[in-house]
Amino acid sequence: MNAQKIPKLCLFPLTAEVNQQGHLCVGGCDVVDLAKEFGTPLYLFDEFTLRNKCREFKDEFCKCYPDTMVIYASKAFLNKALALIIKEEGLGLDVVSGGELSIAHSVDFPSSRIYFHGNNKTPEELKLALDWNIGRVVVDNLYELELLNNIAKEKGINQAILLRITPGVDPHTHEYTTTGTIDSKFGFPLTTGQAEEAAKLAMSASNLNLLGLHFHLGSPIFETKPYELAIELVLRLAGEIKQKHGSQLGEFSIGGGFAVQYTLDSEEPAVAHYAQVIGDKVKSLISQMGLGIPRLIIEPGRAIVAQAGIALYKVGAIKEIPGIRKYVCVDGGMSDNIRPALYGAKYEALAANKILEMEDDKVTIAGKLCESGDILVRDTNLASVCPGDIIAMPVCGAYSIPMGSNYNALPKPAIVIVNEGKVHLIRRRESYQDLMNLDVI
Ligand code: LLP
Repeated sequence: MNAQKIPKLCLFPLTAEVNQQGHLCVGGCDVVDLAKEFGTPLYLFDEFTLRNKCREFKDEFCKCYPDTMVIYASKAFLNKALALIIKEEGLGLDVVSGGELSIAHSVDFPSSRIYFHGNNKTPEELKLALDWNIGRVVVDNLYELELLNNIAKEKGINQAILLRITPGVDPHTHEYTTTGTIDSKFGFPLTTGQAEEAAKLAMSASNLNLLGLHFHLGSPIFETKPYELAIELVLRLAGEIKQKHGSQLGEFSIGGGFAVQYTLDSEEPAVAHYAQVIGDKVKSLISQMGLGIPRLIIEPGRAIVAQAGIALYKVGAIKEIPGIRKYVCVDGGMSDNIRPALYGAKYEALAANKILEMEDDKVTIAGKLCESGDILVRDTNLASVCPGDIIAMPVCGAYSIPMGSNYNALPKPAIVIVNEGKVHLIRRRESYQDLMNLDVI
């Protein structure tokens, strides 16, 4: 069955197709069968799409700016199996906690390719990072600068760092995911002079090696202009540092934030377009300012994993309020995907076992948690469904699982990865016993 005939299919993983039974297939596997085998809610990742995204970022950016290093922002989703794929694809890893660092370490992720971010890294986390010879610490504030220098001194090492600069650029994202404006808990503000001050302190610190500057504006960013503005502001700072202190910037990180298509009516730049605009801007500014050519670091998270992941739910209760709304209730919700409730994030959905049927029912897909705000998709068109049918939600690979909770003591879903007709369980479903395992009475 041709994907063009079913517009929503383009949001699903690249291998999505429809089989003769009218079921959604991903990675050569019938997702309705997988829902039966592994239970629901089920998160499914398509390995082909994952690897394809890693390569697309590398290829497109290196075409425009050859010395680009792609660092996967693991907060979007990390477990051992995913860390192995990212390692195999030769990407670096952005971690923000001792937990993410430990997952990376458990699969022998090359530590030189790990960048440690975060606005309040604890002394224990920094010590662990240094013990594991982590590549770069992206220092976020003055407290951390001093703390890290002291820890590095105690360990007798010289730690490579970047400084996170807050450029004062609004990326026009949800206020909860905006980080580039001056009033942010992240980074050294540029306009107050603190960024330059921090650079001076870093250069004179006994056990730190300042390699470059970093910024991250927010997520997801649908425009390219904010990147251009921030690149200009932060590279100007690099120019001043060079002029006043003779220190040359070896790395320049423009963070992540690359948008993905969640719904049929949204539009976002292609990876190639981000690459062109960002690459051109960096190249033209460094030549204008007489700076050496720094390594460009990019940190996509969402754009690597979002499209590769889908969520599968089973329909249970259906409640129709005549003239008002029809609720189709599923067996997951805000405990496995809090994004609609937290950010008003929009998704599409389709009935995975009724793909060829007309989508002529207007419904609201509700979760099973005890909150009226637990709505996954509001007012969407769906084939007429009944209890037991399987709902598939596309573009669920980023920030759903890692932001999940055990609210209402719901066990966390299983996760599988599919490829060429084969399926592997990469995280088993939590059991009720798991929910109590840490309790002590
Ligand atoms: N680099 C840094 C320093 C970051 O803080 C982030 C995301 C990224 C890279 C990756 O951004 P991405 O390429 O994934 O847009 N929970 C929110 C997103 C929070 C993003 C936090 N930082 C959501 O579900 O939309």
